[in-house]
Amino acid sequence: MGFKEEIKRRRTFGIVSHPDAGKTTLTEKLLLFGGAIHTAGAVKSNKIKKSATSDFMEIERQRGISVATSVMGFEYQGYKVNILDTPGHQDFQEDTFRTLTAVDSVIIVIDAAKGVEPQTEKLMNVCRMRKTPVIVFINKMDRPTKDSFDLLDEIEEQLKIKVRPLSWPINDGPDFKGVYNIFDKNLKLFDPSITEIEEGINFEDLNSPELENYIGNDADVLREELELVEGVYPEFDAKEYLAGDLAPVFFGSALYNFGVHELLDTFVRIAPHPRPKDAEERDVEPSEEKFTGFVFKIHANIDPNHRSRIAFVKICSGTFQRNTNYKHMRLGKNFKFSSPTAFMASKKEIIEEAYPGDIVGIPDTGNFIIGDTLTEGEDLHFKGIPSFSPEIFRYIENADPMKSKQLNKGVDQLMDEGVAQLFTSELNGRKIIGTVGALQFEVIEYRLEHEYNAKCRWENLSMYKACWIESDDKEKLADFKKRKHNKMAKDKHGRDVFMADSPFILDMAQRDFPELSFHFKSEF
Ligand code: G4P
Repeated sequence: MGFKEEIKRRRTFGIVSHPDAGKTTLTEKLLLFGGAIHTAGAVKSNKIKKSATSDFMEIERQRGISVATSVMGFEYQGYKVNILDTPGHQDFQEDTFRTLTAVDSVIIVIDAAKGVEPQTEKLMNVCRMRKTPVIVFINKMDRPTKDSFDLLDEIEEQLKIKVRPLSWPINDGPDFKGVYNIFDKNLKLFDPSITEIEEGINFEDLNSPELENYIGNDADVLREELELVEGVYPEFDAKEYLAGDLAPVFFGSALYNFGVHELLDTFVRIAPHPRPKDAEERDVEPSEEKFTGFVFKIHANIDPNHRSRIAFVKICSGTFQRNTNYKHMRLGKNFKFSSPTAFMASKKEIIEEAYPGDIVGIPDTGNFIIGDTLTEGEDLHFKGIPSFSPEIFRYIENADPMKSKQLNKGVDQLMDEGVAQLFTSELNGRKIIGTVGALQFEVIEYRLEHEYNAKCRWENLSMYKACWIESDDKEKLADFKKRKHNKMAKDKHGRDVFMADSPFILDMAQRDFPELSFHFKSEF
């Protein structure tokens, strides 16, 4: 198969949801179709149970599992499908945001009884930022749900995206009878006792009295609702979907493996193959001959005795080859990788080569940080790995004077992995760790102790937000920094960060200094 065909048949995507909507269940069912696993229950939920927030072993277990399930590749109908896993727990949402920079499209799972939830909105905002094409799967139709039209309205309003149902449910809860596949014009009947793949029944003409034989009195309701659907929603337009302006919607029940097959079949047909990626210097086309890629995730190994890690590289262009020299842009050095791995059909194996859209795991001893670019020599820096303003802050102190070197090294490396963000106060030089979730502090403390033999102490810092500031007006910038001296800090790249105590103070600062830009993510 030619290089261009290899690119065209790749579908690299992420599944996201508010916790409990069914992301893990849907992932598992997709893997079953792909033959990547053979029994249900093989994908461990990578959730940290609520009761386990202080259970360090649970965190470790979680980390172990998420290495194995970080990337799951399989062949399906001639397509090479790569699913990138995202952590469900909201304290790890930044990890999810970063993973979304490496996908070409996204499936959002929504609980049909709950509708759009806060995490769904946040994740959609990230997709919108990069115009990532999105498909919506409305899950748990086997349970009592909200009205289907209301759900679609809710999605349009809250997720700020046009929708187009491509399947339509027949009732819900105990009366759920199945879905009509609008795209392929066939009827799939729901039977909770059958979880095998069932063929749909072709129904070109919904007015046929045959329909009553299958779904009885619900036939008329289905006809009416579908008429309404066709009246309200314009024809599905693949271009609009690919531009990130329209989300096709499917209904189903992941638990009963219902509606998942349709989703996957349609997904491989309409979802984008790898797309051009923007670097600071220029846009890079996947079909370019020379290899380029970037690191979007770093995973520490579970074995604390070997401080090795895995850097996950998304291939943006060209063919990646084992044992070939590539330039590490930030370090300006060449590296060769002797054991790059890929996760195919649930097995981790060493690979000889990989194509745009693929994810390669590279064993690393500390050379990579998130956002690093690899090329065949060209000076390129891929954009798109922003740090978000953290929301919780603590001073970090060394609790063992004999181990300050270990502590500094540990903190540095954990920050490179993207576990949290480090700021240094301009006022007193103290180190401040900022995270998006409280769980991160426990992870940091535990890992410092077990991987770096260092002990830390936390001191709470009541702070509303850290934001990056910049201005063309150097005088105003200097004035601001002088006036806010005790609230200024530097991030780990030496950039200016304003630590606002409260929304009110941030608001005032923005009003008093209109010449300054306040950024809530580090990429601007
Ligand atoms: P998440 O990854 O998005 O957090 O959700 P997950 O798949 O773990 O699903 C959350 C719960 O919802 C699970 O039940 C799961 O079995 C259930 N679920 C998922 N899809 C469906 C569906 O289509 N219909 C119904 N009725 N339930 C569904 P749990 O009891 O919380 O978890 P578990 O202990 O069974 O793993």
